Amino acid sequence: MPRHIARLIALIVVFGALALLAKWYFTVDSFYEYGHYRANSVPEIAAQAPVFQTPRYCQPCHAERVALWSANSHKTVICEVCHGPAQGHPANGKLPIPTDTKKLCTLCHEAMPGRPRAQPQIDVARHAGDQQCIACHNPHAPKIVAAAAQVAGDAAAGKKRAGACAGCHGAQGVSASDTWPNLAGQNAAYLAKILGAYKSGDQKDMVMTPMAQGLGDADVQNLAAHFAGLSCAAARNESSAADVAAGKALAKNCAACHGETGVATNPAWPKLAGQKAGYLANALKAFRAGLRRDPTMAGVSRGLSDADIANLAAYFSAQSCAPAPGGRAP
Ligand code: HEC
Ligand code: HEC
Ligand code: HEC
Ligand code: HEC
Ligand code: HEC
Ligand code: HEC
Repeated sequence: MPRHIARLIALIVVFGALALLAKWYFTVDSFYEYGHYRANSVPEIAAQAPVFQTPRYCQPCHAERVALWSANSHKTVICEVCHGPAQGHPANGKLPIPTDTKKLCTLCHEAMPGRPRAQPQIDVARHAGDQQCIACHNPHAPKIVAAAAQVAGDAAAGKKRAGACAGCHGAQGVSASDTWPNLAGQNAAYLAKILGAYKSGDQKDMVMTPMAQGLGDADVQNLAAHFAGLSCAAARNESSAADVAAGKALAKNCAACHGETGVATNPAWPKLAGQKAGYLANALKAFRAGLRRDPTMAGVSRGLSDADIANLAAYFSAQSCAPAPGGRAP
């Protein structure tokens, strides 16, 4: 046998021996016990403590949030999908709060050709621009409810009742004070909603709460119909010292609901155009402080500074309240 063949055979034998040795060394004893390459993984995995808990686990400590979540459209998206696994929480520290919601929410909601239609989808650039999703959506109650309650009031009956309001809101629904809101031309469904909220105590105001508590349910509907029917043409205000241009830039963030010029896109939402600047500023500060509760406006107002609020109020109060030609704002 030539020497180089003998060397080759010796090399193959050494490699074979090494391979057997490696197999013996690297594979666990239970190899093949549960099928190809499975080894003891089944009992090992079964013995691990669960990494993900369930929303039921969160209930005793975060009851308010669990209640809100379970009553709304994300009830099928469990808490830990967004907050990460809760193993060891709270003993080992807080769970993270997602900050980049543009990334998180679009995982499920970005419009895609193959995505089932049943999954609500948006064109992200058009829908949100460069804003975070939680600027407008509450992650635990994401649906922005726009169901306009039908207002079936009688404007003539409302007019008779409106004498009691004239002292502050004006005989024609245009108020005399900068901090008292105009009512003329406001959306009827919003007027009925907010009067109902004063009446039930959901919204509190030293003046308006007792005022509304003296009204019957029919009065609320009638007054809403009456004030909504008044002309708001006279309500337009001159802009104040605040920076209207800066307000206009910020107002892009409000356009989805209040319209670019403050004429709301949905009758359930208030018009801001031509409203008193002082009132608008007070309302925004009340939302920001949580004194006036609305899940949507709470998120929107949180990041606004006092100067932003003054600029926004000046901008909206200087707009004409007549609907923009061409109807709905985007
Ligand atoms: C035994 C009570 C308990 C349970 C159960 C519990 N948490 Fe917490 N959680 C806490 C406490 C205490 C904090 C800290 C609050 C603080 O310091 O402001 C906290 C903080 C958090 C935070 C951060 C809040 C913040 O302001 O930074 C998140 C998010 C959170 N929990 C989510 C969850 C989720 C989701 C679950 C269920 C899977 C859960 N928690 C279960 C008690 C609990
Ligand atoms: C769709 C994603 C999502 C789901 C599902 C979700 N959260 Fe959150 N959660 C968020 C985001 C985003 C924030 C931050 C909200 C903000 O800053 O306005 C947050 C905030 C919180 C906070 C801190 C609130 C605060 O402002 O201090 C707690 C506590 C919390 N979530 C608990 C829960 C619990 C409990 C559940 C399940 C019942 C749950 N979350 C389900 C996305 C989610
Ligand atoms: C894991 C996937 C998932 C994530 C992440 C998620 N969602 Fe959802 N979202 C859903 C599902 C599922 C529904 C319920 C659809 C239904 O009602 O059948 C829903 C419903 C909604 C709705 C209500 C749509 C409607 O017409 O009822 C809005 C708005 C929404 N999500 C916004 C958000 C926002 C904002 C975030 C980020 C904070 C987010 N979602 C994160 C899956 C997700
Ligand atoms: C400027 C406010 C605003 C921002 C920012 C915003 N949304 Fe919305 N979103 C709305 C409004 C208002 C609606 C109600 C839909 C309507 O009536 O047109 C809505 C509806 C939705 C719906 C339901 C659509 C349907 O067909 O039922 C989803 C899903 C949604 N948004 C997801 C998101 C996600 C994800 C983000 C972040 C990338 C986001 N939104 C950012 C205002 C906003
Ligand atoms: C003594 C003065 C006064 C009288 C009288 C009065 N209001 Fe008001 N009203 C106010 C003030 C001040 C506010 C703003 C409260 C706030 O900042 O929350 C207000 C707010 C309102 C709002 C909410 C407007 C908005 O844009 O959200 C409505 C609707 C309203 N009043 C209707 C009426 C009606 C209807 C009457 C008569 C039955 C009436 N008010 C009588 C002072 C008055
Ligand atoms: C996603 C929808 C949405 C967006 C975006 C939004 N709002 Fe609102 N806004 C509402 C709703 C709904 C109400 C009614 C709240 C209530 O019923 O108390 C409201 C109420 C208000 C009010 C009170 C009006 C009154 O007559 O009392 C002011 C002021 C206001 N918003 C200003 C703003 C400003 C400024 C921005 C932008 C920085 C903005 N909103 C963005 C939905 C929105």
